[in-house]
Amino acid sequence: MTLASRLPAILQAVMKGQPNALRDKHYPQWHHAPVTGLMNDPNGFIWFAGRWHLFYQWNPLAADHKYKCWGHWSSADLVQWRHEPLALMPDREYDRNGCYSGSAVGVEGRLTLCYTGNVKFEDGSRTAWQCLAVENSAGGFDKAGPILPLPEGYSGHVRDPKVWQHEGVWYMVLGAQDLHKQGKVLLFSSPNLHDWENRGEIAGSGVHGLTDAGYMWECPDLFPLDGKHVLLCCPQGLARQDERFLNVYPAAYLVGDFDYASAAFSHGELTELDAGFEFYAPQTAQSPDGRRLLVGWMGVPDGEEMLQPTREQGWIHQMTCLRELTLKNGKLYQNPIAELASLREEERRWQGQAGQAPALNGKRLELQINTTGDFSIDFGGGLTLEVTDRGIVLERPSLASGEPLFRYWHGTVASLQILCDSSSVEIFINRGEGVMSSRYFPHPSERLSFSGESAVTLRYWSLRSCMIE
Ligand code: FRU
Repeated sequence: MTLASRLPAILQAVMKGQPNALRDKHYPQWHHAPVTGLMNDPNGFIWFAGRWHLFYQWNPLAADHKYKCWGHWSSADLVQWRHEPLALMPDREYDRNGCYSGSAVGVEGRLTLCYTGNVKFEDGSRTAWQCLAVENSAGGFDKAGPILPLPEGYSGHVRDPKVWQHEGVWYMVLGAQDLHKQGKVLLFSSPNLHDWENRGEIAGSGVHGLTDAGYMWECPDLFPLDGKHVLLCCPQGLARQDERFLNVYPAAYLVGDFDYASAAFSHGELTELDAGFEFYAPQTAQSPDGRRLLVGWMGVPDGEEMLQPTREQGWIHQMTCLRELTLKNGKLYQNPIAELASLREEERRWQGQAGQAPALNGKRLELQINTTGDFSIDFGGGLTLEVTDRGIVLERPSLASGEPLFRYWHGTVASLQILCDSSSVEIFINRGEGVMSSRYFPHPSERLSFSGESAVTLRYWSLRSCMIE
């Protein structure tokens, strides 16, 4: 059964909302953000038939999590993106409470979306259907309906299919919660995308040496990288550790060996993927030249998200920049994709004592710093970064209480690559060994000012604005 179409209301929301978002001084100039309403997870990230596609969880009707569609952008070069027709709306019984996250694959020349149809019941319970939708000639997607009901032994929280093909067989990982409230990643396989066999739990709380690893794992992504397999996941309910896993929900990864025949993943310890204030639900895709690229949501569910000031302008959240993943000594490295260098305007350099460095306009900025000593940077009064011999401390006021909040990265800092947009910063440490992604709301100006006596070498560029067309 088809539910009443919300398309007229969505069109009106976009017509009324987009001008306000674009006028907002906090609206990103070169990152992905919703034209109005709320955007969260990246979905369906794929290179297909000569173009990149990036879909996203989108509530166009309000800056809250109530109504989830899939928005759609595409690009030839990963830099200049364009809007595509709205891909999915929750308009069927089996997805009536949201077209939740998922992935995209190419099947017989057509882009095919694999997503979760979320269904909530009046008694507070829910179920989830894994569903398909196939691209049509108008650039939209025709729903093909559910292909997998809730597997036995799990609660209604089973979602976020990441699908790929290996040696002619389709595989799907799903985030799940079992009936004992333990978070898991499930693996399924299929000859045809329609008939799925449950291959068991490949990771999670109580699996392969992990104990107490949370009550629900969201957004898994399993892929080969530099001779190993990496599983990205978002384990909800993980205990906070000393200066690690401090966000309400973290994004993490496991590195190990995956065996298709036995569906077994032997892996090392769960490691935080990004040490900043905002990073969640990342998804990867492989580029035609073999690189593994990642994009994440620069947001975290719950916590203080609803207090972000941009909601007053009718929009909230942005994506991270696109990143390339590599593995070094069992550790995941993230670096901005090489294509982003095309945003750079004129290069400038400066060398001297940090405290003497010129203030920089942080609205659209790439800043590379080499240093061996302590210094700090104030980001427009909204966030400070302090480099010490222990690592990095980010400090920002709570949007609820004004109290200072902190995030940490431990290690010896030799170099930083800092990418700024109107209200975000991504800090790449030691050529991708660590990353800290954070939103911040500068006031009254976006100036970056340095302090400290250590010698620093700066290279920096203003970045050109690159809005989605
Ligand atoms: C992660 C998540 C997913 C879900 C989607 C709904 O942020 O909770 O598990 O599919 O968001 O928008």
